[in-house]
Amino acid sequence: MSHICVASFSFLIPLTLLYSAVISDAQKLNNRPIIGVLAQEVYSPSPGKNSYIAASYVKYLESAGARVVPVMINRTEEEYTILFKSLNGILFPGGEVSISSSGYAKAAAIFYKLALEANLKGDYFPVWGTCLGLEALTVLTSGKSLLSPTNTTGVSLSLNFTEESKDSRMFKDFPEDLMTSLANEAITENSHQWSVTTEDFNGDENLKKFYRVLSTNTDGQTEFVSTIEAYDFPIYGTQWHPEKNAFEWTKANIPHSPAAIKTTFYMAQFLVNEAKKSLHKFPSRDEELNALIYNYQPTYTGWKSAFEQKYYFD
Ligand SMILES: *[C@@H]1O[C@H](CO)[C@@H](O)[C@H](O)[C@H]1NC(C)=O
Ligand SMILES: *[C@@H]1O[C@H](CO)[C@@H](O)[C@H](O)[C@H]1NC(C)=O
Ligand SMILES: *[C@@H]1O[C@H](CO)[C@@H](O)[C@H](O)[C@H]1NC(C)=O
Repeated sequence: MSHICVASFSFLIPLTLLYSAVISDAQKLNNRPIIGVLAQEVYSPSPGKNSYIAASYVKYLESAGARVVPVMINRTEEEYTILFKSLNGILFPGGEVSISSSGYAKAAAIFYKLALEANLKGDYFPVWGTCLGLEALTVLTSGKSLLSPTNTTGVSLSLNFTEESKDSRMFKDFPEDLMTSLANEAITENSHQWSVTTEDFNGDENLKKFYRVLSTNTDGQTEFVSTIEAYDFPIYGTQWHPEKNAFEWTKANIPHSPAAIKTTFYMAQFLVNEAKKSLHKFPSRDEELNALIYNYQPTYTGWKSAFEQKYYFD
């Protein structure tokens, strides 16, 4: 019970509610989960292309039995609050925008705050950060950026699991052979220039108390945290890219071995199963159908982008 410390928000956490947040709704499952994927600014905006979502995140969630709603940037807090009550979880993807001032960062901050408040009330709502998304989560939890440069743009690595990973929610249902592969084969794809070093992570009381570190990695010189899960909230992050193994082919270092593909699926299934514990729903069928990603068409961008396909938005 002592693991909570949310510096950036002023409300006090009623300790008695913590475990109900993580456990209470677990009995009732929502087998039609809808997960929000956050958009982000494009590098050079043009008509019809102000923001995007890489299609691999959508396929990733769909492959494990979820539907996806794009969460647009630059919307009001009121709009996000309404959408929050309709979604069963949110994924903050990787990317290249600012983790403090972009539309992506602002939306992530609102969803993070709403998720903390809801989970404390026993209203289960998972939050996932991949790569930039993990970095954004560390900023939201610690109240500051602790990023250090690492030589990790385009390398596949095995995970150095911590002792604590054995008790993790994320990996506890993974098959033993897959855990052995993850620990010994370079099947997690890293595409980041920045990381939170293990030293900085452990040196920050807010991060250390909030998240259990499940794995670390090193670029040969600097050790950084690569997988985290919050102790008392369904909040998770990987510095690596589980979605790329099965769905991205643009770079030679992306692993596609059987164990790599299995990793994509088990990671997706974990998040989707978390979302099944959320009972949020859209107020009407029309609103649900209008919000789904099926209303948008992905564009083939693999010729000149790190992503095979992207959804562009106005
Ligand atoms: C979002 O708002 C920022 C200003 O806050 C602006 O620079 C940016 O172009 C907007 N992006 C989109 C996609 O509307
Ligand atoms: C970065 O890592 C690559 C291997 O992934 C290595 O070839 C390169 O020399 C490293 N660069 C530096 C500056 O350490
Ligand atoms: C794994 O992490 C432990 C604890 O930080 C460290 O002592 C060990 O050297 C790491 N192993 C590898 C292969 O990086």
